[in-house]
Amino acid sequence: KQYDVCILGATGAVGEAMLSILEQRKFPVRNLYPLASSRSAGSTVTFNGKEITVLDVEGFDFSKAQIGLFSAGGSVSEKYAPIAAAAGCVVIDNTAHFRYDRDIPLVVPEVNPHAIAQYKNRGIIANPNCSTIQMMVALKPIKDAVGISRINVATYQAVSGTGKEAIDELADQTRALFNQQDVKVEVYPKRIAFNVLPHIDVFMENGYTKEEMKMVWETQKIMEDDSILVNPTAVRVPVFYGHSEAIHIETKKKITADEARALLEKAPGVKVMDKREPGGYPTPVEAAGTDATYVGRIREDVSHPLGLNLWVVSDNVRKGAALNSVQIAEILVAKYLD
Ligand code: A2P
Repeated sequence: KQYDVCILGATGAVGEAMLSILEQRKFPVRNLYPLASSRSAGSTVTFNGKEITVLDVEGFDFSKAQIGLFSAGGSVSEKYAPIAAAAGCVVIDNTAHFRYDRDIPLVVPEVNPHAIAQYKNRGIIANPNCSTIQMMVALKPIKDAVGISRINVATYQAVSGTGKEAIDELADQTRALFNQQDVKVEVYPKRIAFNVLPHIDVFMENGYTKEEMKMVWETQKIMEDDSILVNPTAVRVPVFYGHSEAIHIETKKKITADEARALLEKAPGVKVMDKREPGGYPTPVEAAGTDATYVGRIREDVSHPLGLNLWVVSDNVRKGAALNSVQIAEILVAKYLD
């Protein structure tokens, strides 16, 4: 069986990855409708070797599609996801807009695929935040084995998470610095080239940023456990593709590094890269363009008897966004759609 699929935000960083992942994984697409704003309506994208014209989402008849992959920003999803769902197009939404609604499933296929069944509530499934997804893939097997009471995490996040303009800004600033030209600072509040910014998304009343609080809320929802404490610091680094995370957990029962490594070696979606030697760990350079969540630097915490440390790296545009959405769509068609 084949499905008609629309991609809202098809000209963006995540939208482009969605097109190539649907193609690579041979998703059963009959008609593909790339959607964006009037700015890029009329331009083309390539899918399965064919040029397809981008349509303005305004006025698109969503009853033409059974599945919609949305990644054009929260306010765009707020407006169009209910319209699409009402027209019978199940929306897999990559924005934060619906993630915390109780009746909307928030899904990482390796962790809580059963939640997809709740798509029937509102015709919308939410795709989690990129930093949360890779952390869940790495921690789920450990939680199942010994329980997790607390997660301390610092992220090192690539600029592609912000979108195409940010990718251009890092490249332009780098070039300008090498050529001793003026550096333009537009997308981020400070220069990102050769710098590190401890600030992603807006500041909240409690002093955390919204990106950090997303990791708190989403971990509890996906793990279906409100008792897990999460303490994140989210940092933007001058990397194009691939988020890294230094994760320090406290488990309920002791797990040794060897036991954790053995569990992770058979965990779905995980690749362990953990040789205790120079280069024996994952970095964004190898993770970029691939599908796995890489785990290395697995070691017991010298400061806490129940502590374990992990270094987790994944391509934020793929597993952190487009790939996770397509995996959700694969389960949706295999188990739920006619
Ligand atoms: P457009 O090319 O028309 O601006 P990125 O995250 O890489 O910045 O990409 C954002 C994606 O979301 C683009 O495809 C962009 O399309 C799309 N988009 C942004 N705002 C809107 C909007 N108001 N309506 C429809 N699509 C939008």
